[in-house]
Amino acid sequence: MEGYHEPVLLKEVLDALNVKRDYWYLDATLGDGGHSLKILKLGGNILGLDVDSKALERAKKRFERCSIDISRYKLKLGNFRDLERLIKDNGFEDVKFAGILFDLGVSSLQFESAQRGFSIRNEGSLDMRMDPTLSVSALDLINGLNKGELYELFNKLGEEKFSKAISDTLVSSREVGIKTTKELAELVEDVYRKHGIRKWKIHPATKVFQALRIAVNDELNSIREALPQALEVLDEGGKVIVISFHSLEDRIVKNTFKDWEDQGFGKIITKKPVTPSEDETTMNPRSRSSKMRVFRKNRMSTSL
Ligand SMILES: C[S@@+](CC[C@H](N)C(=O)[O-])C[C@H]1O[C@@H](n2cnc3c(N)ncnc32)[C@H](O)[C@@H]1O
Repeated sequence: MEGYHEPVLLKEVLDALNVKRDYWYLDATLGDGGHSLKILKLGGNILGLDVDSKALERAKKRFERCSIDISRYKLKLGNFRDLERLIKDNGFEDVKFAGILFDLGVSSLQFESAQRGFSIRNEGSLDMRMDPTLSVSALDLINGLNKGELYELFNKLGEEKFSKAISDTLVSSREVGIKTTKELAELVEDVYRKHGIRKWKIHPATKVFQALRIAVNDELNSIREALPQALEVLDEGGKVIVISFHSLEDRIVKNTFKDWEDQGFGKIITKKPVTPSEDETTMNPRSRSSKMRVFRKNRMSTSL
């Protein structure tokens, strides 16, 4: 299985789902299908969605190689913000899902493809679209937004403390033209050095990259729009599980679940978010910032 995205919090997801044979589960972020494959092996069926057609192809091949019966999974292209429409368009309107998983962010495949521009360390063009058909790339934002807009973006979506200096420098270096991930990373490094910071554990451009990625893929609105639809298509007693990788996303999930609980739709299973064990973060450093939250929808009998 080498070369596949390592599924984060896999045991914790499976413990929360308690997979039941022949029930349908919705994987809203299929990626390499790591979580889905386990669900399939435990007897559950999968509707898998991804905005990236490459992810669908890889997961399909992976399931075929594992001899999973083709009638037990359907893999479809689409953005989870259109969840209900995608479910209907693909003939699942009568299915209630026993569990729904959102494993947010990018996959290893996307991250490591230099030309897709997600990684600070790999030289590539500043693209950052998870869905390659989106019209606006990170480079378009860098070149098209004014100073104030860039400041807002880095400040709000990156919570970056040097947002002003970075946006000023970006705009003043437009004539030379920043084009690649490496050039952007170096520009941010320079800003940090000018502020007397010369050593770092986490690369100083991490937050700027995060902000651009969130904006390009409209990540916060996507999960905000998807969650109510997920609750709608979830079976009674079923669970919505969200794994997020930054505080802005996690806040949306936390507040939505709280709101659902207050309205009597069900119960928050994770009072505190579940985080990876030390073993997992050692084995898979990318799991470091993950947080999992679980909500269980009421059964009619318990909600009455
Ligand atoms: C972290 S990976 C999922 C990895 C997967 N759980 C596994 O174990 O292989 C996230 C995937 O979700 C997809 N994705 C991100 N946002 C999406 C959205 N709004 N709609 C559909 N897919 C999305 C990405 O393209 C990526 O393939």
